[in-house]
Amino acid sequence: MRNFTHKNFVIQQFESLKSTNSYAFELANLRQISHGEIILARQQTQGRGRQNRDWVSPAGNLYFSLVLQPKIELQKIWQISFVAIVALGATVEKITKNLVQNKWPNDLLIEQKKVAGILLENKIFQESCEFVILGIGVNIASKPDNAIFAAASLQDFGVEILPENLLKNFLDEFEKTYQNWLDFGFENIRKIWLKKAYRLGEKISVKLDDKKLEGIFEDLDLEGKLSLKTNNEILKISTADVLQVNQIQA
Ligand code: BTN
Repeated sequence: MRNFTHKNFVIQQFESLKSTNSYAFELANLRQISHGEIILARQQTQGRGRQNRDWVSPAGNLYFSLVLQPKIELQKIWQISFVAIVALGATVEKITKNLVQNKWPNDLLIEQKKVAGILLENKIFQESCEFVILGIGVNIASKPDNAIFAAASLQDFGVEILPENLLKNFLDEFEKTYQNWLDFGFENIRKIWLKKAYRLGEKISVKLDDKKLEGIFEDLDLEGKLSLKTNNEILKISTADVLQVNQIQA
């Protein structure tokens, strides 16, 4: 398929790939692609989500992976997924005219349903970050029906857009948000993220391995962790799934 550029980004398009993240990782590892290059696929046959889950990827939705090579300390790499979700949220709001919510850590919701997710991977060598692969999937035309959290597609909200056009809109927004983060740091991004956080200050239920914890979603801390206030303590959670409200026992 035809390759194209958008501003400083170079996009390689494919009809079908196993996973754009896996392929981008492979090419970046071989130094065949570098900062600002994107792998875009019409469909994926082995799309991957967080926590080793599958990301079902039929044609009609957006699937891409962007290579980034920021000169940052290793402990800041995770911040990029919040930078990206803030930019994606702004893009989706503009296009759909619907308000979005950020579900911790990196899901985008419209009307309490997941429309997009992020998978951030990286390669570290000798204490420095060689590259980051920012993988994004957006449900445009279809959604999975057996997901752990209820899903929706942009089409459910009356929006039709070609995946490559949604990508270009995202890149315009991401370029600004990424630069803002490089110049001014995470605090600004954190504030924007929190303004649209799903169930902030409310009771949530979190699945952590095989355990289910309930408490009040107090904050997103400066390390990207979720602060959960239970009856007797404040827990800082770094990897888990926030469950749907109707999955919380009253
Ligand atoms: C999640 O919410 O669990 C993250 C989903 C990330 C899916 C995208 S689609 C493009 C890129 N390639 C993959 O295999 N996964 C990411």
